[in-house]
Amino acid sequence: MINANKILDKITQLHEVKTFESIDSTNNYAKEIAKLSTVKNTLIIANHQSAGRGRGSNKFFSPQDEGLYMSLLLKDKISINDAQLITIASALAIRKSIFESFKINVTIKWINDIMLNNKKVGGILVEGSLYDNYKEYEYLVIGIGLNIKKSQVPDELVHIYTSLLEHTQIKLSMNDFLINLLTNIFNYLDLMITHPNTLIDEYKKYCTVLNKKITINNSNQTYTAIDINNLGNLVVLDEYGKEKIFNSGEVSIKL
Ligand code: BTN
Repeated sequence: MINANKILDKITQLHEVKTFESIDSTNNYAKEIAKLSTVKNTLIIANHQSAGRGRGSNKFFSPQDEGLYMSLLLKDKISINDAQLITIASALAIRKSIFESFKINVTIKWINDIMLNNKKVGGILVEGSLYDNYKEYEYLVIGIGLNIKKSQVPDELVHIYTSLLEHTQIKLSMNDFLINLLTNIFNYLDLMITHPNTLIDEYKKYCTVLNKKITINNSNQTYTAIDINNLGNLVVLDEYGKEKIFNSGEVSIKL
């Protein structure tokens, strides 16, 4: 059960909490209200999503009462022109919160997949709308999906899906976890502005892709991931040793 007042009491950067038993997608809803809402920061959270979305055309499986499905709508002026760093900050916040709350060490598959024992336990979908000057966002939506309880997953997900409670005995209220997660998200968003290099350095520590051979967009070509630059792009070497830089919008990777 979500206690909106308790969350609002503890997270001073948050101004409104909207809860839903079921919704198509909390990100869709956040984007619908983004233009009209005068509230600065809103949390939207649902028990079930009928059309949860991931990056690209991916779906995010969102069964009732078994996961965390939330979107954080930020309408404060955010002076960055690339949402990749928001994804990076959010991934670090999720990692830290899962460790603090459940004592589980998850890793991050660049850029937005939260991994546990080589399976996906969660993901992040950041969407937003830039002002015409391309320097500031009018609004940003940080969508987070986490598989909390073991679930009956469709066949195509069986080999890639896992959930937190399959890996710990620790039981925790969703409210306490959310407070921890939101605290960490706002802290990492601050770090992103004040010390972006520290943010990237920390991300590199937990990013499983580095120094591994990867394939991109299901092609036959293999690359070695060598770095994440200060914009959050992935730097790779192709088989001839030539450097290439990929933006998260253009690729999906396989380890
Ligand atoms: C991914 O795996 O590529 C990202 C998954 C993001 C899922 C979350 S669940 C809450 C929010 N609403 C959505 O439709 N998607 C995000």
